[in-house]
Amino acid sequence: MKALILAGGAGTRLRPITHTRAKQLVPVANKPILFYGIEAMVAAGITEIGVIVGDTRAEVMQALGDGSRFDASITFIPQDEPSGLAHCVLIARDFLGDDDFVMYLGDNLLEQDLGAFVDAFESARATHEPPTAQILLKQVPDPHRFGIATLDDSGNVVELVEKPEDPPSDLALVGVYLFTKRIHDAVAGIEPSARGELEITDAIQWLLDHGERVRCELLTGWWIDTGKLTPLLEANRLLLEKIDTRIEGSVDQSSSIEGRVVIGKGAEIVNSTIRGPVAIGAGTRIEDSFVGPFSAIGNRCVVLRSEVEHSVIMDDSSINEIARLEDSLIGSNAAVQRSRQKPRALRLMVGDHCQIDVE
Ligand code: TTP
Repeated sequence: MKALILAGGAGTRLRPITHTRAKQLVPVANKPILFYGIEAMVAAGITEIGVIVGDTRAEVMQALGDGSRFDASITFIPQDEPSGLAHCVLIARDFLGDDDFVMYLGDNLLEQDLGAFVDAFESARATHEPPTAQILLKQVPDPHRFGIATLDDSGNVVELVEKPEDPPSDLALVGVYLFTKRIHDAVAGIEPSARGELEITDAIQWLLDHGERVRCELLTGWWIDTGKLTPLLEANRLLLEKIDTRIEGSVDQSSSIEGRVVIGKGAEIVNSTIRGPVAIGAGTRIEDSFVGPFSAIGNRCVVLRSEVEHSVIMDDSSINEIARLEDSLIGSNAAVQRSRQKPRALRLMVGDHCQIDVE
């Protein structure tokens, strides 16, 4: 079993952050989103991993290296344009060979581990009616935004539709798929959709139309497509819920630490209150400030005379004299500074290398 992780794409819904960085490398709970996916593969016993990379390939390749830091072997597969999820399968043909594989969207996060999902497919493959694909489904309140599956009475997938106006069910396709080599016939057999992409839902529908069996599993636990600000902050919250306290930096006498907090090496907390769950990166200085629940502050940041809550702040950024910063995503090397006005809350999405002066 191999893995194909999709880390190309345009990331239009996370601009301006994605003007300068790969959305899959935005950190949640101070770790890039993509690392969670790779670690999930390795935990499921899959170590031969192909990664589709697009315009942001240099950054993704540098972050992942050859995969040895994850105990995996990584092969990068460049995609010239984001031509669709099925196009990723098409261009990964040489890497995948005739092996079964897991396809995983690099900006998705799942609570459930993948091992059981893979085991279920392998057991089903050993039966007299082996499936050629397996999808993961989750009930959602807003099915018109997703790829949606219809099942028959015995729970087999009969039809898939992409973002339907009139949804046939509330079962959305989660960004994890299992395929046998038969999918290569499907991706070669379909045409681009109205939006000009080779759709994976069309490829799976092709399998169904050609008499193949497609199994499904219902997801337990949460699943987040982090492609937009609100779900990204939600993922940060859910992952911070799971952290254990680890204090490697220094906390002075006049500071207080409440709840579960990670403080990285060389970080300094001076005359401040940190109310967890919170993660603070290495070399970061928090002074005369309050850092409230569900905040993740990266490495080498400075937070001075400010209040921060429910926000992600990336490496090398500073927050200076901001009465209150909440529900925000701040890029790296950014500066948000000085509010001379009465205290009020700021909700921001700030790209890398920006300076915001609040006067
Ligand atoms: P999407 O979120 O569906 O697409 P996108 O990245 O282009 O984002 P946006 O809609 O905001 O413009 O992609 C899901 C994942 O698959 C994501 O990690 C990017 C990746 N991907 C590719 O690698 N190649 C592709 O051709 C497409 C469409 C997506």
